[in-house]
Amino acid sequence: MLPVSEACERNKGPILAVLARELAAQHAVLEIASGTGQHAVHFATHLPHLTWQPSEVPAQLPPLIERIACEALPNLRAPVALDVRDDPWPVAPVDAVFSANSLHIMDSRAVREFFRGAGQQLRAGGVLCVYGPMRYRGAFTGASNAQFDAWLKARDPLSGIRDFEGLDALAIEQGLKLHADHAMPANNQILVWRRPRPGVAGSGQSSGIDQSP
Ligand SMILES: C[S@@+](CC[C@H](N)C(=O)[O-])C[C@H]1O[C@@H](n2cnc3c(N)ncnc32)[C@H](O)[C@@H]1O
Repeated sequence: MLPVSEACERNKGPILAVLARELAAQHAVLEIASGTGQHAVHFATHLPHLTWQPSEVPAQLPPLIERIACEALPNLRAPVALDVRDDPWPVAPVDAVFSANSLHIMDSRAVREFFRGAGQQLRAGGVLCVYGPMRYRGAFTGASNAQFDAWLKARDPLSGIRDFEGLDALAIEQGLKLHADHAMPANNQILVWRRPRPGVAGSGQSSGIDQSP
């Protein structure tokens, strides 16, 4: 029996609707912290123009490998072992990096390494998409997120819901520009950054930032 995330079953549809737009012109996608692989299977199935590369830390890799192998999708690659603290990441450059529900699990050093690795990995014109709960100017977007943050910190004091401003600062250090902030169901967001193409005016401009308070 492979592990199943109920949250993935609930959020994969809304996330797909955003990725279909944000990744419409991309090809090679690296997913960080693929977990059970349900997202990878769903997005590779419905976005056949993408080649989807799942990854996980070595300890979590075996069930992910099994799920991806069971599906045998032509555009879904065998998962690779990747800890965001690896330097460099053991993969080729990509057009997009996606990760869901991972930054609040990692400690702040790993979050910084996530952006460092994504920055190294993304080609010009590439896109970084991060799904999960966020804080804005220190405020949670809903009471359920405040409770979730307290639960995370009781379990691991170094984890917790991240501040949008801190993440955006790490992205800017990597030469990435905020492109969009999509409000998602259940007090989640999808943040999208782009690496501008050299010499293309406005290539990193916002497509309409729908930012929470
Ligand atoms: C809450 S799960 C999310 C999994 C999946 N993306 C989802 O949305 O269901 C967090 C994931 O982050 C991964 N993770 C934690 N630390 C990591 C690190 N340093 N590098 C890469 N992945 C990490 C864990 O192995 C775990 O699969």
